[in-house]
Amino acid sequence: MAYEMILVETQGRVGVITLNRPQALNALCDQLMTELGDALRGFDADPTVGAIVITGSPKAFAAGADIKEMKDRTYPAVHFDDFIGKRWETVLTIQKPVIAAVAGFALGGGCELAMMCDLILAADNAKFGQPEINLGIIPGAGGTQRLVRSIGKSKAMEMVLTGRMMDAVEAERANLVCRIVPAADLIVEAVKMGEKMASLSAPSVAMAKEAINVAYETTLREGVRFERRLFLSLFSTEDQKEGMSAFAEKRKPSFTNR
Ligand code: HXC
Repeated sequence: MAYEMILVETQGRVGVITLNRPQALNALCDQLMTELGDALRGFDADPTVGAIVITGSPKAFAAGADIKEMKDRTYPAVHFDDFIGKRWETVLTIQKPVIAAVAGFALGGGCELAMMCDLILAADNAKFGQPEINLGIIPGAGGTQRLVRSIGKSKAMEMVLTGRMMDAVEAERANLVCRIVPAADLIVEAVKMGEKMASLSAPSVAMAKEAINVAYETTLREGVRFERRLFLSLFSTEDQKEGMSAFAEKRKPSFTNR
């Protein structure tokens, strides 16, 4: 697929996808989301890639779903087109770690897309918000659910019911983001983090992210059972033998993803 609204490159073993619709602050129109899904699936299938970064421009990660594209849609059209399920949730199906590297605005669907990634690394100019209430709608790609699980009920209520934005410092304090870095270093830091993940045993990295994501969706008891099954299954891999032998032999492990 030839892309018009995203840029795709690899840096070492990290796949980098840059949302590239600057004239609309990376508003997430159908075409952009289709291209993003295609690129994500491509990197997931590429054995030379071990982690993926999604980023935007210095001014905007993404200012939300495309309001101009959505405004005249009818209920049957949005229902039967399944535009959220079909185009927005691909990122949830990716086995490799997906890092959202956010500079500038991450609003509405932009904030939701970032929260669908495995973690968010924020530039110091990042701004997060769910301003849908100003448009007479509510978040529709998981914002009301994932925000509560990340930052708790009161802050989620305030953000969703008033549309107030959070800056990077508040977002870090509220545990929405893992870390803040200077805007100029955002991509370098995100790729460095991805490169570390890509250097490890891919089955263990994939299972670790899967187990953490299950914590979002299940009870503690079920989550612990799920984790244990994955943990025990890793004793069937060559990389577990290699990782533990390397430790015992005081050398660096050489993982083969088997
Ligand atoms: C379509 C958008 C857009 C959007 C910005 N633009 N956000 N177009 N959809 N979400 C366009 C503007 O119309 C403008 O185009 C250009 O990008 C630059 O934006 P400005 O508003 O001129 O920039 P600025 O004054 O710096 O303000 C930045 C901003 C503002 C505060 C981010 O653009 C804004 O409030 N945007 C909308 C944010 C929002 O409501 N997001 C939620 C969308 S609903 P022109 O052609 O005039 O230059 C949503 C629901 C998701 O996301 C549900 C799941 C699918």
